Amino acid sequence: MASESQSGGITRPQQTYINQLSKHVGQEVTLRGWLYNLRSSGKILFPQVRDGTGLVQCVLLKNAVAPEVWDALKGLGQESALTIRGAVRPDERAPGGYEIDVTSADVLQEVHDYPITPKEHGVEFLMDHRHLWLRSRRQHAILKVRHTVVQAVRSFLDNDGFTLCDAPIFTPAACEGTTTLFEVDYFEGEKAYLTQSGQLYNEATAAAFGKVYCFGPTFRAEKSKTRRHLTEFWMVEPEMAYATLDDVMTLSERMLSYIAARVLEDRAEELKVLERETSRLESLVPPFPRVHYDEAVRMLREGHATGALESAFEWGGDFGAPDETYLSNQFEKPLMVHHYPAAVKAFYMARDPERNELALGVDVLAPEGYGEVIGGGERATSMDFLKEQIELHELPQEAFEWYLDLRRYGSVPHAGFGMGVERCTAWMCGIEHIRETIPFPRLLYRLRP
Ligand code: 4AD
Ligand code: MG
Repeated sequence: MASESQSGGITRPQQTYINQLSKHVGQEVTLRGWLYNLRSSGKILFPQVRDGTGLVQCVLLKNAVAPEVWDALKGLGQESALTIRGAVRPDERAPGGYEIDVTSADVLQEVHDYPITPKEHGVEFLMDHRHLWLRSRRQHAILKVRHTVVQAVRSFLDNDGFTLCDAPIFTPAACEGTTTLFEVDYFEGEKAYLTQSGQLYNEATAAAFGKVYCFGPTFRAEKSKTRRHLTEFWMVEPEMAYATLDDVMTLSERMLSYIAARVLEDRAEELKVLERETSRLESLVPPFPRVHYDEAVRMLREGHATGALESAFEWGGDFGAPDETYLSNQFEKPLMVHHYPAAVKAFYMARDPERNELALGVDVLAPEGYGEVIGGGERATSMDFLKEQIELHELPQEAFEWYLDLRRYGSVPHAGFGMGVERCTAWMCGIEHIRETIPFPRLLYRLRP
């Protein structure tokens, strides 16, 4: 029998969570949750109950329960709130491996008009009802994978000697180009911008702590309506003092492999719900292929020549989504493209000493068409060079004085990267659109709920 617990002066049976049922075989337990589905067959009801940790099928025999229990459950609608008491019985055919033989139940709230039904709904309808859509099995599975991605990132970096040093959200200037800034009225007429990246602050904390990371929401007023873009997304950004482009690539492949291993181990059930083909995740072990931008361009041209790509790629440009997909399809594992033309990269990138037109930057392109999941590289160390770049990019010099101090006092080679949590989660889940990888997505045309 389950024990009783005191809470607020009320004695009530202790709750058992559905994902813990294996520890209670043969025992009577109390589940607290919501009705997911209800089937009936004559004198038997089969309520499926979810409680946030899982889903279990219950069996209610009319003759085995009090008449008021039968009446309360019969005809109950989806998402009614209820507690169920019953015995745990192993059943090989049951989804979680167990069923509950119901002895009693309490309905806290009867619901009959839950808007999301098992029939197909359009995406816009589901997005309008995101606050409820989160309860569905698939959304639940995706957000559990996200949770594990975040957990994996943190334990990977923490165990590797990185110190968490979060960066501010309100910033006085751009980090990743002025075209995607969200402007905010600060005080007394001063403008602030929502951060695009914590990197510049990471460079300061890296000089204080050696290896650091920040992990928080970042914002881009991106007018792109693609399956890879959010206007608010979470980014983890490690930064290392005395490090180079090469170190960034090594850290990237180690971190991504660690994330995949953790997801495979901790979220096997969820990957099944998502029907994720796991073999591609299993093969995710270092080293990942490293391809120079020049070589990537050669491959894209070849792709055009064979008719796989519509347009001919010109050296000097940034890759579009079809280019990234074509390139990553040439490899099993994620692909690291390095030494991009500096002209398509941010102002702070260090240059290749042999070829000044190239930046010591890298993009990690995920396989299966997921595109860029990581962007990073080595930072410029020269004060004069940075001053020039700040001017060239039309950035306000005075807002970068503190940043230039980092070059005035103990400037050393340093490097880092940023990984978008949502892009990584979409890839791990094998789903089409990143809007499902964050509880409440913010998109070009969506600010609600
Ligand atoms: O390549 P990005 O712009 O790099 C930076 O911001 C660097 N300052 C990071 C650093 O070196 N510390 O962005 C990094 C990653 C991308 O690879 C992508 O995964 C994600 O952030 N990202 C987005 N994710 C969702 N929606 C968007 N609009 C995104 N823009 C970038
Ligand atoms: Mg990038």
